[in-house]
Amino acid sequence: ITDTRIMRKYGPPTLIGHRGAAGLCPENTIISFDKALEKGAHYLEFDVQETSDGKLVVIHDVTVDRTTNGKGKVGSLSFEEIRKLDAGSWFHPRFKGEKIPSFSEVLERYSCKAGFLIELKKPSLYPGIEEKVAAELIKLRLHQLGKDRIIIQSFDKASLMKIKKLLPSIPVGVLVRHRPYGILERECKAISQFAQYLNPKVTMVNASLVKKAQKHSLKVIGWTAQDRQTAEELANTGLDGVVTDFVDVHDSSLK
Ligand code: G3P
Ligand code: CA
Repeated sequence: ITDTRIMRKYGPPTLIGHRGAAGLCPENTIISFDKALEKGAHYLEFDVQETSDGKLVVIHDVTVDRTTNGKGKVGSLSFEEIRKLDAGSWFHPRFKGEKIPSFSEVLERYSCKAGFLIELKKPSLYPGIEEKVAAELIKLRLHQLGKDRIIIQSFDKASLMKIKKLLPSIPVGVLVRHRPYGILERECKAISQFAQYLNPKVTMVNASLVKKAQKHSLKVIGWTAQDRQTAEELANTGLDGVVTDFVDVHDSSLK
């Protein structure tokens, strides 16, 4: 399938930089988000959690162990402690000094440049995080942007239902991990009662799933395509967005 055929048949899906440009830079850092945009991402995907003193920060794991020089749970460390950590060297010494960004920093720096796919990561660990996320988006008036410029996603459906009540104008997406039996029509129907997106692992995305989702007015974002062939196959299913660690791998087919 050539790029032109993909485009003619379905139109290009939205290109979403996973944790920024996680294949090229330390994930969920400013340098990673800058790189994703430089390489042509339309949206930035990132993960939000909360420090012990109630500040929202952008980090994937529930501990800082893998992606910083520190140790401990995100929810047990203060914002000051988190900000002292080096979130770059683990990836490569040349990224030494990269910080874990605050949620507000990312919103302020990129809201005029990109769309956001914001993941509420393990929200059950942080009671009330939905209110905090909503308050920050409202403070910057980002809830008024429209056109799906901000999408909130999570594996936690209860949390998504909560945030949808707080921010009715912002679309929400249900993340679904791989399972051998795929995603059933009745699940699409149930999800469509409160969500606007179905966001499955790429191994489950095919034209029939996209059709099933569309039948219930759900858009589909697949994660995470790591090579051009997967991106092209995904685009050919007619889905709406592709999450990738390597934005540049996909540039000519999906922009
Ligand atoms: O955008 C989907 C993806 O981010 C979900 O998985 O583990 O990378 O947060 P994970
Ligand atoms: Ca994520």
